Amino acid sequence: MKEILTAWDGEAVLIRHDAQTGAVIIIGIHSSKFGPATGGTRLMKYNTVEDAIQDAQKLSSGMTYKFALADFPRGGGKAVIALSRVLLPEERHGLLMRYGSWIRQLNGYYYTGPDVGTTPEDMDVIATTGDPYVFSRTPANGGAGGSGEATGYGTYCGMKAVGAHLFGTRTLAGKKILVQGIGSVGRPLLGYLKSEGAEILISDVDERVANDYPEYVFVTPARVYQTPCDIFSPCALGGILNADTIPQLRCKAVVGAANNQLGTEADADFLARQNILYAPDFACNIGGALAITGMEAMGWSKQVAFEQVSRVEQTLTTIFTLADEQRINTHVAARNLVREKLNRIQ
Ligand code: NAI
Ligand code: PHE
Repeated sequence: MKEILTAWDGEAVLIRHDAQTGAVIIIGIHSSKFGPATGGTRLMKYNTVEDAIQDAQKLSSGMTYKFALADFPRGGGKAVIALSRVLLPEERHGLLMRYGSWIRQLNGYYYTGPDVGTTPEDMDVIATTGDPYVFSRTPANGGAGGSGEATGYGTYCGMKAVGAHLFGTRTLAGKKILVQGIGSVGRPLLGYLKSEGAEILISDVDERVANDYPEYVFVTPARVYQTPCDIFSPCALGGILNADTIPQLRCKAVVGAANNQLGTEADADFLARQNILYAPDFACNIGGALAITGMEAMGWSKQVAFEQVSRVEQTLTTIFTLADEQRINTHVAARNLVREKLNRIQ
């Protein structure tokens, strides 16, 4: 345990056991330097508490990176609710209420929103006891709703930066783009890609999505990494760019929304050696957190929020230029940019 804590450069790991359900709730606070730590709540099963702690740490670091790159005055935090078993609806409801009370006790040290396993409806429940520290409630409860559309839009803007850098054109018309994970981010992303005339391929473990989108080629999960395309867009799971998958890839670029796509940091070099342009996940997937917190905490209109999200394109262009100039990989270039921004506000 000590190793897990000392290997991380974050501020705090808060942890509590929920006796009624056996769940362990972990809040990772990576940094409050840029503003109050903010990030979603991931609710799922984990094999061990150590795995859950490490996930909370990694995900909260990612939030610091996202907000810093967007020059948005929020810090990095993330919560993991690690379940040890499937809960009945009323048990889950009670757990979320107790979690909300804990967030309120923290008195603004951590603000939450949705992530994998939680929805705006869950934010409504958490906000009953956790208000005003809960973003992304449903519009019926005064929130801005789900974050997937803005995240999909930011990812699409990121693809334009890749287009300009690799193909000499921002337009994605005719580009073959394979989206892995057709969920709350993947679906709106498909809409933006379609509006530009991209050639779209989709993949999901839930093969029913093939019926929802009969106009696109469906790639089975078993073939997703080997399928030739211009841009591969991971919008499902983390850790999918690794020593096993990278040699299989037949794409020119990876641009997706999934958090923590690299298996290890060294995998960014591996991608570069394979001549694959990697758009760092934390530079691409800020859209939802930025738009929702901007609308709810700063009073932005939806139009202003989406204009802000479109800055993903410029940020990635800067990262690609730095990487080329300094002959470093794009992940390191993005990380250096974050460190510079954080150092400036010592
Ligand atoms: P979601 O749960 O709505 O959708 C995920 C989709 O991926 C589902 O359709 C699921 O069936 C599919 N999937 C799961 N495992 C898969 C696999 N092995 N291969 C192919 N498909 C698989 O999740 P959401 O909200 O769309 O998020 C997707 C990713 O983007 C997650 O990693 C999340 O952390 C990240 N993200 C989401 C944001 C948001 O605003 N929703 C913001 C930033 C990051
Ligand atoms: N799940 C979002 C992310 O990973 C976090 C978030 C969404 C935070 C909405 C606040 C509001 O970026």
